[in-house]
Amino acid sequence: MARSTPSRASDSPRDAIALLKQDHRTVEALFDEFESADEEEQSSIAERVCQLLTIHAQIEEEILYPEAMEALEDEEDSELVHEAQVEHASAKDLIAKIEGMAPEDDGFRATVKVLGEYVKHHVKEEEGELFPKLKKAEIDLKDMGSRLADRKFALMEQIGIQAEEPAPARKRATAKGSRAAGARARQARAGSRRSSRSSSRATRH
Ligand SMILES: [Fe+2]
Ligand SMILES: [Fe+2]
Repeated sequence: MARSTPSRASDSPRDAIALLKQDHRTVEALFDEFESADEEEQSSIAERVCQLLTIHAQIEEEILYPEAMEALEDEEDSELVHEAQVEHASAKDLIAKIEGMAPEDDGFRATVKVLGEYVKHHVKEEEGELFPKLKKAEIDLKDMGSRLADRKFALMEQIGIQAEEPAPARKRATAKGSRAAGARARQARAGSRRSSRSSSRATRH
């Protein structure tokens, strides 16, 4: 019997790949939304996307990548993990740059756009190359999924942000579903913007 790990997520445990793919869809939707948003909205979307990507990168680096390295014996396969780690480092540089910018700064939009393109490329490699290899490897993906979820929710709690899972797990959101998810996302961001605005003002000059 599979070990049942307590999780703060109310849904039944998903396997590691389903959870990470869901994270990918969430940030992709936010990058799409950023394109057509006004300046104020762009600021909160960028803040949200940076927070979610930071958490996603951290759970992959703490749990997924080390265990993938161990399970993938082929040198070429473990090279995929090394590449992914290097890509994370570059994405984090861009995230730090965005977090240090104000939305009216020159290059703010362009930097978020470049991060979006960068993430898109990284996600394509993870989903197209790494994840299929993990499915064939000796890894308990259900157990890993529970541990990823626990760590993810703990990190979200630590930085004080709420879960936002707009897209259904198996299917891209329909236009209608997407609009409803967008409205929920805007509500969640408006709340977090109100609470974080004063603190970010205090640190920005
Ligand atoms: Fe990922
Ligand atoms: Fe990654």
